[in-house]
Amino acid sequence: MAESDGQIKAASAIIRERTAGVIPLAGIILGSGLGPFADSIENPTVISYGDLPGFPKAGVAGHAGRLVVGTVGGTPVAVMQGRAHYYESADAAAMKVPVRTLRAIGCETLILTNAAGSTNRDAGPGSVMLLSDHISFTGVSPLFGEKGDQRFVDLTNAYDADLRKALQMHAKELGIQLHDGVYMWFCGPHFETPAEIRAAAILGATAVGMSSVPEVILGRHAGMRVAALSIITNLAAGMSEVPLSHDQTMRNAKVAAASVQNLLVRFLSNY
Ligand code: HPA
Repeated sequence: MAESDGQIKAASAIIRERTAGVIPLAGIILGSGLGPFADSIENPTVISYGDLPGFPKAGVAGHAGRLVVGTVGGTPVAVMQGRAHYYESADAAAMKVPVRTLRAIGCETLILTNAAGSTNRDAGPGSVMLLSDHISFTGVSPLFGEKGDQRFVDLTNAYDADLRKALQMHAKELGIQLHDGVYMWFCGPHFETPAEIRAAAILGATAVGMSSVPEVILGRHAGMRVAALSIITNLAAGMSEVPLSHDQTMRNAKVAAASVQNLLVRFLSNY
């Protein structure tokens, strides 16, 4: 048995034991600035990643490193406060155990959130994008080394049409504008160059960021329905006079985080 299979089994057993029979339907991975969404969870059981084999070590500022299981609007959820990024370890499969554990404990749906830069001036800092597709030119896959035909995952409809429709409908009800987004994954941790951003825009990318794509691929491989929301924290490199920094990302993430939090609560209440 692969080491990761043992970790998934062990992590699932710990979560099941501590949550006494709650079977979460949706797994949610919170990106930079979205940690406070966990406060919306009713009857929460909080498990530190340190207690879960194969879960990420707390790394980037703004990430708590906790799994919170409970309900939102009556829907059982498992929420990850913090994720591992490719740039921390050069391991594209850094989120393999957490995503597969979410599936193993019951999650049929995976909702990803992240902070991203925008190549679209109409969707500036503070706006929210609902991803319809992605581009990865990183040259890496979280499924490297995987065996069996299932590894040849079809990503044609990676971002589930029904989930997108529901999220758009609830956003409209709440008066939140959801921009259509195509996310281009860059390795980081450095930001992109202006030339890379010009290239990304020509290729059709509207958002650029350093996360989520490995999780989308892992989620689809595990048979989950996937949706992803990007909080726009900045115009991408070369599009504004403001220097890019992690501090700026964290400050601007707060603005859009409130919209995403309200949207997710509404969505889950009607799940
Ligand atoms: N590029 C990459 N990742 C990001 C950005 C960006 O401009 N903003 C927030 N995360």
